Amino acid sequence: MPIVPATTTNLQQAARLLRSGQLVAFPTETVYGLGGDATDDRAVAAIFAAKGRPSFNPLIVHLAEIGGMAPLVAFDSRAERLAERYWPGPLTLVLPRRTDSPVSLLASAGLDSIAVRIPAHPVALALLRAAGRPIAAPSANPSGCVSPTTARHVADGLTGTLAMILDGGPCPVGVESTVIDLTGDVPTLLRPGGITRETLEAELGPIALAKASDLGGPRSPGMLSSHYAPALPVRLDARSPRPGEALLGFGPADGAEMNLSPRGDLTEAAANLFAMLRALDQPRYSGIAVMPIPDHDLGAAINDRLRRAAAPRA
Ligand code: TXA
Ligand code: MG
Repeated sequence: MPIVPATTTNLQQAARLLRSGQLVAFPTETVYGLGGDATDDRAVAAIFAAKGRPSFNPLIVHLAEIGGMAPLVAFDSRAERLAERYWPGPLTLVLPRRTDSPVSLLASAGLDSIAVRIPAHPVALALLRAAGRPIAAPSANPSGCVSPTTARHVADGLTGTLAMILDGGPCPVGVESTVIDLTGDVPTLLRPGGITRETLEAELGPIALAKASDLGGPRSPGMLSSHYAPALPVRLDARSPRPGEALLGFGPADGAEMNLSPRGDLTEAAANLFAMLRALDQPRYSGIAVMPIPDHDLGAAINDRLRRAAAPRA
């Protein structure tokens, strides 16, 4: 699996690969994405195959500029306001699909909406500009597993089908984008992420939380309960490790094997989350016990991922 530095030459090569229907992994500010041409059914099908992802779970379409989105989806004033303020950034908007949208129906799982975002990472932006077309990119990990925040994580999880992995160093945010559905009258939070609900509510007013019955249903098929899961069992709200467990700390923590943020900083904890879950996922432990994380700001996204990591496996 070729991991290459994100030089100008390699970016040009990566853009050519994308235009010819191949898959390229690239860094974003949140996690590494597995990119393919969103307008090419075969490239999109290859993404689903590479991840082992159920085809009813739609992909996010990435662009470098808001101008390129007009042919794909319909913006209302709320979407324009959020885009203006938070793009490029870790925010994904679910918007009504235009009937003549060139995006593959497979990418949006046949829904009448499309999820779109402009990532805030110089490598991602340079690649998207050079590719010159919408790029579908889920997190670059096998479906259900821990998301990748380094190029090495991508190579460890996905084998074969990738033409290139662009290395842009560790992802600074560390949890995926916030997904907000603007297709209805009331904005609905489908996935907590890098932009906090508090921040969005200050801009939009009250935001509904997706109902449990929507999650896994047609509204947001991707929100299956077991996800982000290491091989070991995960136990939440732990105060101390049980025999054999590795303790993942937050704040002052005696006996922690690793610590998400010794000073109790949620931004630092989010950036460390997936890499530390991977590092502790070793057969010499019986499980990973995670200390409590406050549920505000980025803590909401961290706890969402941890709850799914701890959920009963299928
Ligand atoms: O930070 C991120 O968003 C990363 C980077 C690579 O951009 N991407 C990412 O993609 O997390 P993925 O495929 O792992 O998660 C996309 C989420 C899924 O939960 C999916 O169900 C939801 O977005 N989604 C995509 N399109 C949707 C749509 N039309 N309606 C509702 N939910 C949608
Ligand atoms: Mg994912």
